[in-house]
Amino acid sequence: MNRKPMNVMFNLIKLVGPLVPVMSIAVITGVIGFLCAIFIPVLGAYVISGLSYSFTTFVYLILAMGLLRGVFHYIEQLCNHYIAFKILALIRDKVFMKLRELSPAKLEGRKKGELISLITGDIELLEIFYAHTISPVLIASLTVIIMVVFISHYNIILGLLSLIAYVFVGVVLTFVSGKRNGTLGDDLREEASYMNSFFLESLRGIREVLQFNYGQKRLDKLSELTDNVNNMKKKVALNTGFNSGLNGVSILLSSTIFFGVSVYLYKNGQVSLEGVIVPTVAMFSSFGPVIALSRLGVSLSSTIASGKRVLDLLDEEPITEDIYDKESVQFEGVKLDDVSFSYDDEMILDSIELEIEKGKIFGISGKSGSGKSTLLKLLMRFWDVNDGKIAISDRDIRDINTSDLRNIEGYMTQNTYLFNDTILNNVKIAKLDASNDEVIESCKKASIHDFIMTLPKGYETNVGELGESLSGGQMQRISLARAFLHSGDIILLDEPTSNIDSLNEASILKSIYENRGSTVVLVSHRISTMKICDHIFKLESGRMS
Ligand SMILES: Nc1ncnc2c1ncn2[C@@H]1O[C@H](COP(=O)(O)OP(=O)(O)OP(=O)(O)O)[C@@H](O)[C@H]1O
Ligand SMILES: [Mg+2]
Repeated sequence: MNRKPMNVMFNLIKLVGPLVPVMSIAVITGVIGFLCAIFIPVLGAYVISGLSYSFTTFVYLILAMGLLRGVFHYIEQLCNHYIAFKILALIRDKVFMKLRELSPAKLEGRKKGELISLITGDIELLEIFYAHTISPVLIASLTVIIMVVFISHYNIILGLLSLIAYVFVGVVLTFVSGKRNGTLGDDLREEASYMNSFFLESLRGIREVLQFNYGQKRLDKLSELTDNVNNMKKKVALNTGFNSGLNGVSILLSSTIFFGVSVYLYKNGQVSLEGVIVPTVAMFSSFGPVIALSRLGVSLSSTIASGKRVLDLLDEEPITEDIYDKESVQFEGVKLDDVSFSYDDEMILDSIELEIEKGKIFGISGKSGSGKSTLLKLLMRFWDVNDGKIAISDRDIRDINTSDLRNIEGYMTQNTYLFNDTILNNVKIAKLDASNDEVIESCKKASIHDFIMTLPKGYETNVGELGESLSGGQMQRISLARAFLHSGDIILLDEPTSNIDSLNEASILKSIYENRGSTVVLVSHRISTMKICDHIFKLESGRMS
């Protein structure tokens, strides 16, 4: 999506909405805090220019201001971070809601890595925007207005001069440093995270690295990556140094000019001596808030890039819309009518016609990559067909409530994912209100009950505790137990026996066969597994034979 930076900022700021009162407190305390800091030397200037304070009053005033500066700065930071973390929580919430809408297509897609970096990195980076960008801009603007009015009340020319100096440091230099830095901040973060994942990957693959004598090559690459990161960090440090140098010079130069002009005005009788000393000190000591802005230049471009990615995701349309409010449907079999489908340009399924009768076991075979799993995902409506239609009981599945569809269909995927929870709960996700007996029954059907009973804590064993010690076949059978427990009208099984020995295979097939109350769609390479099917369809590169 083509969003302009201004549009990104506007939309990010809109999210502050309900937190405007807290933001106001942050801004007000921020301004007062800076004024306290500024007026410590200004008080001194008053004393020098002859205003009669008693020395003790002067000391007390300065002490009070110093203390208040700290208190107000603390409140400001507290409010800003409160806002930032509240909004980040809100954004995370929105992103997860959106992912629920977009999944599973979005999560199955090939850009999963980008999604993970969005969830972990981009959202985190917005903290800078909410805690360190919005209110500093407001604080600087307000402080500048107050200072310009204060100085103008001595002399309008001096007021204008200070305004020019503030705008130069706060706006012009901020843009200059932003431009100089360009995408360096982003590039550095990307390169550093690539280096980290390369390092982790080398550790994870240490067995392969040792076995194939691949160590030196990985090490060389790692040194190269480290050098890159180092060089980029040097550039960032150089830029930061340059910017702060430029700021210092600009402040000194503009203060000197300011002083010169005020002396000139004094000589012409346009200002008093106090009108030279107080405004000069006030102006010189009031660059704090604008310097805070010039530091933003470095981070702003990457913050906006992150904001853009987050907003784009929130605006993304789901590939399949959830359906509500339709009449529920009784399962009477599935029909595919001239179904064609492609993920991108390449046609995966081309004009498929098939009928899955109720109560039958329907086999799908075909070589790897022919689209068997894709066909099951279409039946689940993870994607919508490009052409033709899939119907359950003659009703297009695009007209069936999504929750009804999920209840009708149980789906065992090719890749099992187990949550870091007990085995019991891992099976139970298929039917949250299932009794323990039901779970045990389905585990028996999936031929995994005996194994679970050999574990010291049985069904209460945490999958995490088993680490990687569950075999592929054991994971697969837990997944199958889920499918049995779900007990929909139709079960879709994607390669349920690919990792399972023939003894367990036979007992699983027997369970599937005895479970014929449900209709079964069985995808498998194994001839032995296909034997129990009533019909077998062979997919060949998108066409059935
Ligand atoms: N999310 C996706 N985006 C783009 N292409 C995909 C996606 N998922 C699968 N494909 C491609 O679609 C084709 C069919 O994949 P599918 O997983 O349906 O094959 P399969 O018949 O199940 O293979 P296998 O027997 O190896 O499991 C493959 O070429 C695959 O690369
Ligand atoms: Mg597959």
